[in-house]
Amino acid sequence: MSIDLSLETTRTRLHALHQSHLLQFASTLGPSALRTLLMQIESLPIERLPSMLAETEAQVSTDLTSLEPVPLVPREGPLTSEFRAAGDAMIRAGKVAAFTVAGGQGTRLGWRGPKGTYPATVVTGKPLFRVFAEQLLATERRYGIRLPWYIMTSPLNNEDTRAFFLDNNWFGRHPQDHFFLPQGLVPCVDREGRILLSSPAEVATNPDGHGGAILALERCGALQDMMRRGIEQICYFQVDNPLVRCVDPVFLGAHVHVEHSSGQMSSKCVNKRNAAEKVGVLCRSRDRETLRTVVIEYSDLPRKAAEQRDAQGELAFGAANIAVHVLSVAFAHTLASGTGARLPWHRAFKRVPHIDLSTGALVEPEKPNAYKFECFIFDALALVDRSLTMQVNRVEEFAPIKNAEGEDSPASSHRIQSDRHGQWLESVGVQVPHRTDGSVDAKIEIGALAAMESTDLRGRAFPKQVHRGQELVI
Ligand code: UTP
Repeated sequence: MSIDLSLETTRTRLHALHQSHLLQFASTLGPSALRTLLMQIESLPIERLPSMLAETEAQVSTDLTSLEPVPLVPREGPLTSEFRAAGDAMIRAGKVAAFTVAGGQGTRLGWRGPKGTYPATVVTGKPLFRVFAEQLLATERRYGIRLPWYIMTSPLNNEDTRAFFLDNNWFGRHPQDHFFLPQGLVPCVDREGRILLSSPAEVATNPDGHGGAILALERCGALQDMMRRGIEQICYFQVDNPLVRCVDPVFLGAHVHVEHSSGQMSSKCVNKRNAAEKVGVLCRSRDRETLRTVVIEYSDLPRKAAEQRDAQGELAFGAANIAVHVLSVAFAHTLASGTGARLPWHRAFKRVPHIDLSTGALVEPEKPNAYKFECFIFDALALVDRSLTMQVNRVEEFAPIKNAEGEDSPASSHRIQSDRHGQWLESVGVQVPHRTDGSVDAKIEIGALAAMESTDLRGRAFPKQVHRGQELVI
């Protein structure tokens, strides 16, 4: 299509949608910038905006009065070996893929590149992507298989992410086993529903949330690719947790255990540290006759429920969501195909820099001025018949890096990583120094190629003792 024709078509479309201002500066743009703007506008779901605004008018859709604690299946319990055997068989049969969502903007951490490139480990500073890649490599070696890895990026970080894998020679894995899928972008709108421009030639947008994974998997052909490879289950995890067990046989086996789960979508949780911890909580909510698993954001959980204790004195609503799931390919396909229910939109009122239409100048607002829309992956849980929630040990599996400082920062993650690896060494008889608060007083890093869990260390020789403040890499 010629650029003039494309301009006219876009003008007509935007006029019908009351968003004509997006072309306000079109006459000042050179051909290349104009073409880019027109292509961007064409790719955005502008027709859906009115319904997204209406749908998100009431922010909390779950009936908070009907919440119940979710039943938990412990990872370490009487069924662990049965789960593990089932999961081992699925992995060995090549029915499992890894899936990392890495399309976020990582604004809180403030790292320049994609978050997966962040140096995350305690001593050698391995980037997050390498940490996961080594785990996948170790899994491949253990089971004698090839393990495909799907990585959701966003149009904002896709190129940098791909370049990082290429520069690192795919971390020693087969290049063909990597599949990058850029998620969708949605426009940012002001209170009146007008889309903002971030420059005269660009619409202000944001990635459509981790829930955008479902649509991206379908749109980019990843689900098709999985079906072609005989993949049945997808191990979903976020890019910011260096302790995640990317492909956990015990979790996989529990996920397909008919007594506990419909095998559509399962979750892992850890115990909340305290009632006030700012973390989403897995609960159940009554939907007519059925109890559905839902995640309630910390800000929405009524205080009374947050502080409620069970008969054992534990927090009744203490199942902290760590965003680790298994989803079946069939379930993801049903969700994405648009034939059944789809994920709801959420909106947040944020500060979004934008162009003042009367002056053409860039405005950096001091207060929130615009809505950003996102979908959340955990909303899919409410669409599942019987969803399993597996309780795991926090120190073993959860050390997220979200903030530059304080909670969930590189420093707090490093402490937890050393605690985990200190415990592993203690389990094989090594003496490890502790601080008065119980944390390990040394920097200990154990790579997945050396061990994926403590039992992998058995029968190997180690120094008798780790010294206070020592840096140790295994
Ligand atoms: P967060 O909610 O921590 O958001 O994402 P973020 O964008 O990474 O960081 P902030 O809030 O800007 O500081 C949790 C996980 O979901 C992914 C992120 O990459 C991370 O793995 N995510 C988030 C996406 O893949 N796409 C999104 O649109 C949002």
